[in-house]
Amino acid sequence: MARDGAVYACQSCGAVQTRWTGQCPACGAWNTLVEELTSRPPGALKATKATRKAPLAFEGLDAETPAPPRIATGVDEWDRVCGGGVVPGSAILVGGDPGVGKSTLLLQVAASAARRGARCAYISGEEAIEQVRSRAQRMGLADAPVKLAAETALRSILDGLKSEPFDLVVIDSIQTMWSDAHEAGPGSVTQVRAAAGELVRLAKKRGLAVILVGHVTKEGAIAGPRVVEHMVDAVFAFEGERGYPFRILRGAKNRFGATDEIGVFEMGDAGLSEVKNPSALFLDTSGERAAGAAVFAGIEGSRPVLVEIQALVAPSAYGTPRRAVVGWDSGRLAMILAVLEARCGLSFGDRDVYLNVAGGLRISEPAADLAAAAALASSAFDVALPQDCVVFGEISLSGDVRPVSRMDARLKEAAKLGFRRALGPTGLDKPGLPVTGASRLADAIQRIHDGALDPT
Ligand code: TYD
Ligand code: MG
Repeated sequence: MARDGAVYACQSCGAVQTRWTGQCPACGAWNTLVEELTSRPPGALKATKATRKAPLAFEGLDAETPAPPRIATGVDEWDRVCGGGVVPGSAILVGGDPGVGKSTLLLQVAASAARRGARCAYISGEEAIEQVRSRAQRMGLADAPVKLAAETALRSILDGLKSEPFDLVVIDSIQTMWSDAHEAGPGSVTQVRAAAGELVRLAKKRGLAVILVGHVTKEGAIAGPRVVEHMVDAVFAFEGERGYPFRILRGAKNRFGATDEIGVFEMGDAGLSEVKNPSALFLDTSGERAAGAAVFAGIEGSRPVLVEIQALVAPSAYGTPRRAVVGWDSGRLAMILAVLEARCGLSFGDRDVYLNVAGGLRISEPAADLAAAAALASSAFDVALPQDCVVFGEISLSGDVRPVSRMDARLKEAAKLGFRRALGPTGLDKPGLPVTGASRLADAIQRIHDGALDPT
């Protein structure tokens, strides 16, 4: 029998049930429901009644709303992803793999904002004060007036944040925070949700911006509950491939800005430096382009980015051929291979296929389809694409090459970086950078095979 006020929270998905079951009805995980006591603060009911007395006021959609004020931190790449700076009273969740550089980034953001006059606090639940301080010294941030604390007890953190006025607070990380109002262990869904809830409430009430750091599980979700993602105003993912210095801050949700924006950073000895013009960053411009490489003219956020897509098609030594992909979607690769087989007569059944996006970038645009197909065909035929050619276009299952967004911006950037021709959808005419238009993938593949990529 459930006790009064007791509910059961799934430690895997965060769903709440009123009775205990062995299997979570929401996500199907076993033995993940843990009892949680919901206690209503005394007087909460009264407060609700009191607020109900006020009549509901309706407003028109066209009423004037002033733009939210922003704290520009001075880390421009961060501010851009926020939509022009951090909004006071908002909560931001920054997720990423352990070691990707979340603590480094947020220490830099807090230090930069503090230097510009914002009252900033950095609360670490993972590292001792000395560790944070020595890192700050190494990064040349020691003079920034950031208030540091090492603490995991939510109650002391809330008390500390109430005792002094702050504009911006970093909590590193939400998984280490622990509230004595709940019996569950630190890092459990119950604790993470309770801590995030309290901090978000405080942010709204006091008008301070709270940045929560969250670790990401192997499956790619921010560890613990998805519920935290619903509580906060913005969710950013901090990404980077091991072995590459580049780090990308990507907006996944943002109530105060566009979600497709990215910030680009480079990890060095003195922390992260901003990459203001990333368009040629992921491009290897030294030497000849080998067979199997195609330069994709992409758009990341609001900016064009040129990146090399590399493919290797090789005879398979085993019964089941391998398909491996880094930086792109494996489902998308399977689709492109199927279209190449069904519509262009290529065969990959007995061949291993590897696809890699150079520089450690992750591409999610469908506009990269044609570049991936071109790289695969180039490797399969062992014919290199022209050195000065960029490729873009979406491919449909029927084998058509479709136009993509912002084609002018892609071509302009390619021209700026010295590219002299492009392979893409038909109907594009750009002075200075002629486009070989292909309406069918088979036509584009034939041209690659024949080395006939001179614009027509
Ligand atoms: P960190 O910010 O601690 O990662 P996270 O908080 O996401 O777990 O960054 C850890 C990595 O960054 C570590 O492998 C070392 C590297 N790093 C540098 O290369 N240069 C630097 O100046 C700093 C501070 C870290
Ligand atoms: Mg950290």
